[in-house]
Amino acid sequence: MKTDSDWGKQWDSYWRNWLVEYKHTIKGPGEDMSPLEFDADYVKDKIVFEIGCGIGLLAAKINSMVLCYYGIDISPFAVEFARTLCPDETNFSVVQTEQDYKIAKDSLHKKIDTVLVRHVFIHLGEEKVLRYLNLARSVLKPDGVLYCNFFRPVAEGSVYIKKDTDQTSGAVVYFPKDHIYDILGRSGFKVIKMAEVAERYEVIAM
Ligand SMILES: C[S@@+](CC[C@H](N)C(=O)[O-])C[C@H]1O[C@@H](n2cnc3c(N)ncnc32)[C@H](O)[C@@H]1O
Repeated sequence: MKTDSDWGKQWDSYWRNWLVEYKHTIKGPGEDMSPLEFDADYVKDKIVFEIGCGIGLLAAKINSMVLCYYGIDISPFAVEFARTLCPDETNFSVVQTEQDYKIAKDSLHKKIDTVLVRHVFIHLGEEKVLRYLNLARSVLKPDGVLYCNFFRPVAEGSVYIKKDTDQTSGAVVYFPKDHIYDILGRSGFKVIKMAEVAERYEVIAM
């Protein structure tokens, strides 16, 4: 079974390839963002924590609006790249996931206004999704907000991997609506907005 370090390397190579292919879009990220993500109220003047921030596409877009931004990702390459996109370390910090998971949990405890998890749960099995939802719950202020998205099963027979505890950068994990309510509920969240955008469910929860 692959370790997180193995997955980190796999995502490193995903991002290296991505940059070769899409480098020209780096300066204007966000074209594919959902309407929920553009609701600036969730990030403007807020303390924001992004789980699975990748190379910082969303960070680069919102960094001038937020009060403070923290990001974590499993890919060392992505973390390094994100740091160069937003070099002002007074209000911006990105760290690598597993080794810093505990630090994030302790140092951000109940300090965060908004947790963002974009295009990440679509790659993770349920166990890891729950782990990150619990992390989100523990760092959020009592009135803090979680934004996340999931792939929805769009066609009869879509692969739906409920109990998979592993992930790949290629495979996609679909979560039916009921199941999203269930795992969010189990993590102490209540869905306040859910929208179908393209092949995804976009979710705001408190
Ligand atoms: C499709 S990318 C999305 C990146 C970013 N959220 C965005 O919207 O541009 C998925 C990201 O999740 C990260 N990732 C995958 N597994 C992870 C894990 N277990 N913990 C943290 N990040 C993970 C990958 O390294 C990758 O950067």
